[in-house]
Amino acid sequence: MLDPKKYQKDFPILARRINGKKLVYLDNAATSQKPLTVVRAMEDFLLKHNANVHRGIYALSEEATALYENARKSAAKFINAGSESEIIFTRNATESINLVALTWARQNLKAGDEILTTEMEHHSNIVPWQILAKERGLELKFLPTLPEKGILDLNKLPNLLSSKLKLVCVGHMSNLLGTVNPLVEIIGQAHQVGAKVLVDGCQAAPHLPVDVQKLNADFYAFSGHKMLGPTGIGVLWAKQEILEATEPILGGGDMIKNVTQTEATWNAVPWKFEAGTPNVVGAIGLAAAIDYLNDLGMKNIWQHEQKLVEYVIPKLKAIAGLNIFGISEVSKNRGAIFSFWLDGLHPHDLASIFDEAGIAIRAGHMCAQPMLSALGKPAATRASFYFYNTLAEADAFLDAIEKAKKVFKL
Ligand code: ALA
Repeated sequence: MLDPKKYQKDFPILARRINGKKLVYLDNAATSQKPLTVVRAMEDFLLKHNANVHRGIYALSEEATALYENARKSAAKFINAGSESEIIFTRNATESINLVALTWARQNLKAGDEILTTEMEHHSNIVPWQILAKERGLELKFLPTLPEKGILDLNKLPNLLSSKLKLVCVGHMSNLLGTVNPLVEIIGQAHQVGAKVLVDGCQAAPHLPVDVQKLNADFYAFSGHKMLGPTGIGVLWAKQEILEATEPILGGGDMIKNVTQTEATWNAVPWKFEAGTPNVVGAIGLAAAIDYLNDLGMKNIWQHEQKLVEYVIPKLKAIAGLNIFGISEVSKNRGAIFSFWLDGLHPHDLASIFDEAGIAIRAGHMCAQPMLSALGKPAATRASFYFYNTLAEADAFLDAIEKAKKVFKL
């Protein structure tokens, strides 16, 4: 069993005091904290190896290129990609999803075709499809949820499947509900009608083992900063044959093979999708983050988070006037993201009580407004845990809710 306390010392920020209390950081779904090894790997690169990649025939540039390309190998191995050439570095999961919209989807979808997303998606897996649907005359459909249960309504899926459906966009784990979606089932059904499947893995990749080959998705997007890496680096994984057959969107240096005054030919995959100088230091930070996570073991991380679910859910359920969003039972199909509504108190007021106690949580619409509408609420309060969070921190979170109830006389 993983001992979270043992890992807290690797994260200097977790020793900070906020409002006189030791920081309890429970906003990991927004961004994770960074261990020293990640910071040091980036510092080491900038102080000792910094040069541009794929360009210089000199030692430093070769070192930088090797470090950057090794980061790609680490990312590929982390999600069990078939090859490192299936890994495109982007800024974040949002950019990865937009890249699919702007390239593959733009090139392959025509007026009348359908895209299916779900009611529980983050805005980043909705808005790019709305923009594309308007531009191309596509129809954007939504797989509904069973809001009270916090799961997708899979019974509605067969009726949404047809030969017109070209792309299904679904989150691996919901950033609002913590629900882990039954991807294998959804992907299998989508493939039967010839649709491709894009998975937003932003909340899953940091918390559970991901195997893109086993999932058999076509695209998988995730961000570095939610899994101990720095901001500004993300990944788009796609099947090699899809990337080979897709035209790039951004033109410039590094993505070309040959350029004349009138035309250009493209570099090989994945570089044809990485125009300009990439975020080399970010990729190196991400590789160090992946090393850290591999040392812990993704199965152990998930197991610890399951322990938090077992501990927190029954206690949240016992609080009068508190409605848990998402699966409100102890379940293997949810992660340690706890969003809720407390009757009589707006989440922003509740957030200030948490802040006084040194507890960082998120309050607001969580970039998931369609799901909140389905729940009939304007906002939520969300505590999202990671492997470095202890049961004692869970108690501090639960105590703060009780304190808020007393302060506001609920
Ligand atoms: N997507 C991030 C969140 O859910 C920012 O908080």
